Amino acid sequence: MEKTFLMVKPDGVQRNLIGELVTRFEKKGFHLVGAKLMTVSKELAENHYGEHKERPFFGELVDFITSGPVFAMVWEGDNVISTARTMMGATNPKDANPGTIRGDYGVQVSMNVIHGSDSPTSAEREISLFFNENELNEYTKTISKWV
Ligand code: TYD
Ligand code: MG
Repeated sequence: MEKTFLMVKPDGVQRNLIGELVTRFEKKGFHLVGAKLMTVSKELAENHYGEHKERPFFGELVDFITSGPVFAMVWEGDNVISTARTMMGATNPKDANPGTIRGDYGVQVSMNVIHGSDSPTSAEREISLFFNENELNEYTKTISKWV
């Protein structure tokens, strides 16, 4: 089953949005297999956002993501990588549609509430950066067969 890495950024944690965001993915029908509240080190932040290291916003991005706890999660489900990106909305909240997470809760591109892996390759990379194998749970929801 496909897995993705999602992370409530420090602004989302500060604004008490963890529960709201978890609820959206739960209600959609995705399956939470790992989660933790953690503070990201500078080294982890630079590695995670390595693709952006030449961009002018890189320093601020690293400072922001290390500025307070984040809520790191692994979710599982059919097409969860692209569907979670759709649910998040455009990177810049000013372009994100109402109904999406960034459209509903964000204002500034630098504080856009949530991170989500953008491809199978980045999902695999980001999951292994943030989680050990033994922190990911394999379990079946016996309550229903359709999620
Ligand atoms: P990016 O990977 O392009 O977006 P996404 O989070 O949608 O995958 O950029 C990573 C983060 O960098 C983005 O969530 C917010 C920040 N960022 C800026 O601060 N300024 C910018 O101009 C861009 C493009 C991103
Ligand atoms: Mg990205």
